[in-house]
Amino acid sequence: MNQDLETILFDEEELAACIARLAGQINEDYAGKSPLVIGILQGSFIFLADLVRKLTLPIDLEFMSVSSYGSSSKSSGKLSIRMDLATDIRGRDVILVEDILDSGNTLSRLRDELQKREPASLRICTLLDKPDRREVEVEVDYRGYAIPDAFVVGYGLDFDQRYRHLPYIGVLKPIIYETPTEKST
Ligand code: IMP
Ligand code: MG
Repeated sequence: MNQDLETILFDEEELAACIARLAGQINEDYAGKSPLVIGILQGSFIFLADLVRKLTLPIDLEFMSVSSYGSSSKSSGKLSIRMDLATDIRGRDVILVEDILDSGNTLSRLRDELQKREPASLRICTLLDKPDRREVEVEVDYRGYAIPDAFVVGYGLDFDQRYRHLPYIGVLKPIIYETPTEKST
């Protein structure tokens, strides 16, 4: 285990089982369809790579990079799109793939933005969910694990761009953790 971690939450085997379960649900729900899977960079990249390799559907794949500023209670809170989609999603069955749902601000704002582009459907798939931290309600269609309120890294998730490459997910030691001022996916 990486020395900056307090504990491992999910090892490689548990993550693989979780992804097989999520992919199975998606394969079933989208049978006969060809959804557009959108990975939210950067946190989702490893999860996404493993997930799509378990999909048996003829999917299209795109990426977006966004960050969210301010809390839901402030009207100033807004979504900043750092990298937008290359294609029009009108009439498409869209599945948004995110690493972790925390306050919910990023996903709720991104969902509102994408709804304006009139997809046929829009669903959310997140590997992790910290329900205790929610500030704004977000309906999740596919959820890997609900976890307690702790800062986790690995398997794509970072602290200050570090630890993304770890093949497991663990809780960062509090001594290393600081509250980031800007949260980017
Ligand atoms: P939200 O807008 O508060 O839901 O924030 C979601 C984003 O915050 C995620 O896409 C992550 O990039 C980041 N984030 C939230 N919690 C964690 C964590 O425990 N570890 C790493 N990143 C996190
Ligand atoms: Mg991040």
